[in-house]
Amino acid sequence: MYHYNELLDKVNQALREHDVRKAPEYLYTPISYEMSLGGKRLRPVLMLMAYNLYHEDVDYALLPAIGLETYHNFTLLHDDVMDHAEVRRGKPCVHRKWNENTAILSGDHMLIMAMQRICQCHPRHLPDMMQLFSQTAIEIDEGQQYDMDFEQRDNVTEEEYIEMIRLKTSVLLACALKMGAVLADASNTDATLLYDFGEKMGLAFQLQDDYLDVYGDPSTFGKQIGGDIMEGKKTFMLINALAAAKSANNEELTYWMNNSEASREEKVNAVRSIYNKLGIPQLAKARIEAYTHEALASLNQLPLPENRKQTLRDVALKLLNRDK
Ligand code: IPE
Ligand code: IPE
Ligand code: MG
Ligand code: MG
Ligand code: MG
Repeated sequence: MYHYNELLDKVNQALREHDVRKAPEYLYTPISYEMSLGGKRLRPVLMLMAYNLYHEDVDYALLPAIGLETYHNFTLLHDDVMDHAEVRRGKPCVHRKWNENTAILSGDHMLIMAMQRICQCHPRHLPDMMQLFSQTAIEIDEGQQYDMDFEQRDNVTEEEYIEMIRLKTSVLLACALKMGAVLADASNTDATLLYDFGEKMGLAFQLQDDYLDVYGDPSTFGKQIGGDIMEGKKTFMLINALAAAKSANNEELTYWMNNSEASREEKVNAVRSIYNKLGIPQLAKARIEAYTHEALASLNQLPLPENRKQTLRDVALKLLNRDK
């Protein structure tokens, strides 16, 4: 069986080999730029790991794997426009380095490149792969729309938030794992357990992303800190902080969230210190652990030898303390 870093090398090499540099320059250069900035490559590695539970010839799943990474990078191009983000992976976002039209069109193009790559699996897997991919992409759009809708609302419940992040983030991790199972001809039961593992791990993953958006170190995280606070994103942390503030009759958090005059630094520091007073980081961390354990419970049910499942278990545990 392969280790994470060996699979990561394979993914990065395949991405380099499939890097497209041709005219028109302003369509393809931003794509190369985004794809070459690294990132964790979590989704393709998960796909290869799931496949590798059953077979050794992981190259069989490599093109669909980089297809899914291409799709993920497409979502980032558009997400950064929607979230007014400045920095991604430590570099200016595509819409800042070029412009919004570039992010729209290069993004669209990456979506099609992604499909083309995923379709290069063995033809007998095509119906299952296309069904899974298209259903996942539909759900991600729904999640992204809820994410934006919630910016305008002050009464978002924790339950609504969890469903929103399941749609925008979890289903892609789940899809990656299930694709690995489909390509490996695993049973439906196995494929579903791997999907469930990814879905729960994805909830922990997005909660950690939201946590890092407030508590991360920008030089490691690669994104500007406080973006969610500035955009009024209804994260698990904000929802719980608003609830705690309300029951204590404390207006301070609402004051700061509605404050559009304060500087970015002042506002983010103020909200962060309210979170700290209310014990929100501990609450978020506990929930991240809980979802990780739910994920591991699904993995435990997978009827394979324990030692074969260890690499996936290690990924879930490593993500618990990720700082990027
Ligand atoms: C960023 O995904 C978008 C989220 C779902 C939080 P990653 O954190 O996997 O980003 P990269 O690919 O490693 O840069
Ligand atoms: C990302 O959510 C979800 C998708 C890109 C589909 P975020 O908006 O939190 O991701 P980052 O923080 O910009 O990476
Ligand atoms: Mg974003
Ligand atoms: Mg977003
Ligand atoms: Mg985020």
